[in-house]
Amino acid sequence: MRDSYDRSIDYLRVSVTDLCNLRCTYCMPEHGVEKADHSRIISVDKIEEIVKICADLGTRKVRLTGGEPLVRRGIIEICHRISAIPGIEELCITTNGILLKKYAHDLKLAGVDRLNVSLDTLDEEKYKKLTRCACSEHPIKQIFEGIEAAKKEGFGTIKINTVLLGGVNDDEIRSLVELTRDEDFQVRFIELMPIGEAKSWDKATFIPNSTVLEKVPELVPCGESGVAHLYNIPGYKGMVGLISPLSNHFCSTCNRLRLTADGKLKACLHSNKETSVIDLEGDALREAIINEIKNKPRNYDLSVSNPSSSDRNMNQIGG
Ligand code: GTP
Ligand code: 5AD
Ligand code: SF4
Repeated sequence: MRDSYDRSIDYLRVSVTDLCNLRCTYCMPEHGVEKADHSRIISVDKIEEIVKICADLGTRKVRLTGGEPLVRRGIIEICHRISAIPGIEELCITTNGILLKKYAHDLKLAGVDRLNVSLDTLDEEKYKKLTRCACSEHPIKQIFEGIEAAKKEGFGTIKINTVLLGGVNDDEIRSLVELTRDEDFQVRFIELMPIGEAKSWDKATFIPNSTVLEKVPELVPCGESGVAHLYNIPGYKGMVGLISPLSNHFCSTCNRLRLTADGKLKACLHSNKETSVIDLEGDALREAIINEIKNKPRNYDLSVSNPSSSDRNMNQIGG
């Protein structure tokens, strides 16, 4: 289905839980994340019903996000059901990778096509600080074991999402790019967006993606993929993607609709407009989805001085 600006809305991002096994500083508060009342978390049946209607309206790609999608009870069942829906051509997951080793096999069997793994640093101690992770002694090693397991299961190019944080990981840009030397990774640098926790962060943390090109001048442009501009170093196996929601807005080609874990549709990540659909069914649910698409805003002029209007933290939207 097309919105009122003639954009084809064919990509649905579903946050299946707002819970996470990490507490990334830009994403979640350290304390006080209440476990949402389970009855208000969208059920597997309701997710399936919504995806079926969206598929009928033209959705071709579904991405499961969180929080951390792999901590949602029934995640494999959710994947099975979505991948079986006629019209859904691609089922993807964005995960922090901590539980990937455990789930890689079942995810493949459940029809998941692609994985994006969030990883902001290659330094174990920095990782623990940044994610406030009490998960294991060597979380990064654990994530790469998960990635290995996923490759063995036959997952193709795995995208690694790195949120650029000035003064935190900008000294690692070169090492992160080096991951693409021998492996078919797409390492994607994402400009930090002023939303949720990050709204109140120091201006110096927000650095533009042009920093990547300054630090690694060998990068050669080689096309686009979704919201990412692609580059690679000649001779390297993988690619580098730059996702620039501040320095290069991509609203004019936005094809996304979002569903939050508490059952709200969001047509724009940064707008505070939401429509609750958790109690709707049948024609009323379909009407609500159609209206949301029709009323999708043209754009959101995100900048450090004009932060997101969304009142949610990222763990409640899923990026
Ligand atoms: P692919 O399907 O592999 O292209 O993944 P993706 O980029 O659609 O999804 P992913 O979950 O890996 O998100 C990458 C980054 O892009 C995250 O930081 C998201 O928050 C951001 N992003 C995705 N969609 C939008 C959007 O509509 N607006 C903005 N501003 N950022 C977005
Ligand atoms: N700005 C940019 N990216 C973010 N993510 C989470 N919060 C932000 C933010 N404020 C990223 C995660 C994950 C993806 C879904 O969104 O790191 O890779
Ligand atoms: Fe968890 Fe992802 Fe948020 Fe980090 S960015 S706290 S991994 S949901």
